[in-house]
Amino acid sequence: KLNILLSGISNLLCYKISLSFKVNCSKPDQPSLLAALSPVFDLMAIRPVMNQTTHTTITMYFTLYGILGVVCSVHFAYYYHHSFLFLQWWTSEFSRWDPVQCGTNNISIPKEKIWLPDIVINEFMEENKAPSIPYMYLFSDGRVHEALPLRVVSSCNLDIYAFPFDIQNCSLTFNSYIYYAIELKIILGRDAELMTVFSKDVMTTMGEWTLVDITAQKIEINDKSGLYPDMLAFYIRVQRRSIMYVVTLLLPSCFLITLDLFSFLLPPESTDRSSFKMTIIFGYTVFLLMMNDLLPITGNTIPLINVFFSLCLVLMVASLLETIFITNILINSSDFSPVPRWIRILVLNVLGCLVCMPRRREKPEGSGTEAAVAKAIRREVEQQHKGKQSSEEWIQVGLIIDRLLFGLYIVFISVSFITIIILWINSCSQ
Ligand SMILES: *[C@@H]1O[C@H](CO)[C@@H](O)[C@H](O)[C@H]1NC(C)=O
Ligand SMILES: *[C@@H]1O[C@H](CO)[C@@H](O)[C@H](O)[C@H]1NC(C)=O
Ligand SMILES: *[C@@H]1O[C@H](CO)[C@@H](O)[C@H](O)[C@H]1NC(C)=O
Repeated sequence: KLNILLSGISNLLCYKISLSFKVNCSKPDQPSLLAALSPVFDLMAIRPVMNQTTHTTITMYFTLYGILGVVCSVHFAYYYHHSFLFLQWWTSEFSRWDPVQCGTNNISIPKEKIWLPDIVINEFMEENKAPSIPYMYLFSDGRVHEALPLRVVSSCNLDIYAFPFDIQNCSLTFNSYIYYAIELKIILGRDAELMTVFSKDVMTTMGEWTLVDITAQKIEINDKSGLYPDMLAFYIRVQRRSIMYVVTLLLPSCFLITLDLFSFLLPPESTDRSSFKMTIIFGYTVFLLMMNDLLPITGNTIPLINVFFSLCLVLMVASLLETIFITNILINSSDFSPVPRWIRILVLNVLGCLVCMPRRREKPEGSGTEAAVAKAIRREVEQQHKGKQSSEEWIQVGLIIDRLLFGLYIVFISVSFITIIILWINSCSQ
């Protein structure tokens, strides 16, 4: 409603002014138009309105050409926009002419000849590094067109929790520094969806980031006086290309964990298995040191991927500890006292059945003289090697515990990996 009212007023004013303020060309060519416009150039210091109470409307949009990358510092996460074409236009009440009389509908003039709005982007952290464009267009109806390429660094709060599957939402807020909303209004010149489409079309740098979408939002401030800067905000959502991180960070970790898992097939009674696991841990530590540069510098949130790495390391260390424990039982079994009764019942019977390693039963007694002879020999052997039996029981206990912990290890790995994957998918889809 307010918009309609305002445009009605400005149309009225345009009409009034156009009667008195149309430059007259002596001939229908460019030089005479320029000569006719030269009094207007003397007015470049002031906003091009006859009456101070008329507001100037800046219509603007931009096309995003590429995103170079992200640089982090301790407090800010900096965010690079690369080649960013910014277009804006407004109406000057001073420079109007009759296209028939002057022979042209538009003319390009140097930028310093005419008033320019002081639109800034709040998030910009550095000067524009793109080449400057010296000209702009004037149209016969008073429209002024300005286009400028921007290549700048702007700040953006990165949320790296889901790294490397993160989507960042970075804002660009356009506003004037000295003009209030009653004097200067900023409106969107092109549908934000169209801006997204055009930006996606021209994005040339195939860097780490891909554009998801651009949305625009007019920031409304409930202040009737209008003594605040008018603001137009854009939200640019970009997604990190995660494939590189998956290949260089996640897959090797998964392979090492798998290797660690399969090392349970090595015989625990020799020291092979523990030294093998030790080598894996050593290799993984070196891998993490080398890949440290790829990880983002963390602020107050810990990225999920760091948790994932610690989890992998913890699993490897835990499996090494387990192997040390089992190897100790198996190698020193002959020095141990006989297996206590509760361990025999709990481990050999209950857990043994649980992990499908049932206790070996005594062979059933035979019949006849051969059986009697066999029995005699057997008793002899049993008495001679009383200790050996307890050692074998200890070995059996060790093997059962080994297999049980192996099962728990698999369950723990599966549960924690599935949890992390679910967390990643959740934060991705947000
Ligand atoms: C242009 O010419 C018209 C009449 O032809 C005149 O009324 C008007 O004031 C002139 N404009 C300027 C800026 O001299
Ligand atoms: C400027 O515009 C305001 C409101 O439209 C009006 O009250 C005022 O008289 C105008 N001033 C001049 C000098 O025309
Ligand atoms: C981006 O963040 C702004 C607030 O900072 C929010 O208003 C906007 O909805 C967000 N955009 C998306 C697509 O989440």
